[in-house]
Amino acid sequence: MPRPTDSSSWKRLEQHAAALAPHTLRDLFAREPDRGERLAAEGAGWRLDYSKNRVTDETLSLLFEFATDAGLRGRIDAMFDGERINTTENRAALHVALRADRDACIEVDGVDIVPEVHTVLDRMASFAGCVRGGNWLGHTGRPIRNVVNLGIGGSDLGPALATDALRAYADRNLTLRFISNIDATDFTEKTLDLDPAETLFVVCSKTFTTQETLTNAHTARRWIVEALGTDAAVARHFVAVSTHAEAVARFGIDAQNSFGFWDWVGGRYSIGSAVGLSLMLSIGPEHFGEMLSGFRAMDGHFREAPFERNLPVLLGLLGVWYANFLGTESTAVIPYDQYLARLPAYLQQLDMESNGKSVALDGTPVDWTTGPIVWGEPGTNGQHAFFQLLHQGTRLVPCDFIGFCQSLHPTGDHHDLLMSNLFAQTEALALGRTPDEVRADGVAEELVTHRSFPGNRPTNTLLADRLTPESFGALLALYEHKVFVQGTLWNVDSFDQWGVELGKTLARRITPALSCAEEPELASHDSSTRALIRHYRRRKLP
Ligand code: F6P
Repeated sequence: MPRPTDSSSWKRLEQHAAALAPHTLRDLFAREPDRGERLAAEGAGWRLDYSKNRVTDETLSLLFEFATDAGLRGRIDAMFDGERINTTENRAALHVALRADRDACIEVDGVDIVPEVHTVLDRMASFAGCVRGGNWLGHTGRPIRNVVNLGIGGSDLGPALATDALRAYADRNLTLRFISNIDATDFTEKTLDLDPAETLFVVCSKTFTTQETLTNAHTARRWIVEALGTDAAVARHFVAVSTHAEAVARFGIDAQNSFGFWDWVGGRYSIGSAVGLSLMLSIGPEHFGEMLSGFRAMDGHFREAPFERNLPVLLGLLGVWYANFLGTESTAVIPYDQYLARLPAYLQQLDMESNGKSVALDGTPVDWTTGPIVWGEPGTNGQHAFFQLLHQGTRLVPCDFIGFCQSLHPTGDHHDLLMSNLFAQTEALALGRTPDEVRADGVAEELVTHRSFPGNRPTNTLLADRLTPESFGALLALYEHKVFVQGTLWNVDSFDQWGVELGKTLARRITPALSCAEEPELASHDSSTRALIRHYRRRKLP
């Protein structure tokens, strides 16, 4: 794989960035009256308006050339064809198989994996039907009313986001909770009002070795056994989702109550697998299937659409343009929909765990910027918090604004007000307000600079008709593929996460030092860590 900075398109993009710098979005809109209609693309129910970006036709054609130089088309095919593109773990990255049609054929090492995928989906559907229908009884014979997912990272963020996002489609008789943090506060607060006799825990962990999840699972086990008086209760109150069947068995969960998936599903790409079980329990198998068809529609768009009209490719290239040629450090995602409040948290893992890398696929250090810092909050709340910096701060933060044309809760003029804010913010960010315009409004001279807006701040706007399981699935697939496009252009492995290992190893070494009776041997730690451990030991509860 060539180093991106060696390609001729990279060099020309650098020169082009310098040449384009004096031309603001105001100029570009004034010069091209049809820009708003022209720089837009549609796919899988989503419309992307990318006209409010600092790009011209020349920028875009250089970016497409760069994508071609980076071999993007071949990498997309390699992913869909099940090649082991996760080279450091020697695995395929085949999350697209999780939403393949029943009659599709996708092979890993010569074996069609689609039938297995559907066998698990069918088992999930039948289990979900049983629980939702009140036919899965707890140990004391009471139906399940509470489902608690125990998982972290990809085994939490996806189902937690989706359960929130699709709450309008949920069975409101079931209470869904997500416990991820090893901080006992999470477990305590989220189980405080639950009746153990009516509570089902879904222990969700790809590896089934993750400290946080296993600690919470053992606490949950004690909570159930103490309340219901017998170990036998575990069988009716715990199910597992994992690739590690033996570890699940060791925990004491029967294989019948365990739902598997595969090493070719990355944790942060796993929402369409059995990791989505708690979501399926909430919204039912039919809506879950609709979500998968939304994912599938975006997969098809990504694979088929020419780069010029390909939403993940466009978003990916625009992100690269800002990070590598205009020096931006972060990107904000602002969903104008309260149901999507947790989307930024989900995207943080998806993007930053995938592309927060500083070595290329061949193990050599990169000398180009890779994954951005991803952050955000729902609009309009963010407007009253960090938008000041977006409008008038010294940093350039490209943003994605996400909205829907129809509200799921049409109430008075709420939705028009919400969406007018979305449109207004992107317009204000792009065009700003010049000092002359501010003066013309009669503002006192000493306040003119304070009240001027530089503008020229780029945004993408993503619109779909309605937040449905389909449009939601398509949105997640859009971001999954955007991240893959960027990982390809940056020539990094987007599917490993070695950077999370060191902290885990050190925590395992420190834990015994926090609880042993004698002054522990701390020589292997630095003086700051030693002092902190000593302070903690002196102050902690006996
Ligand atoms: O944080 C590292 C990580 O491995 C993530 O990639 C993963 O989603 C999370 O931990 C949880 O892992 P598991 O599903 O194996 O418990």
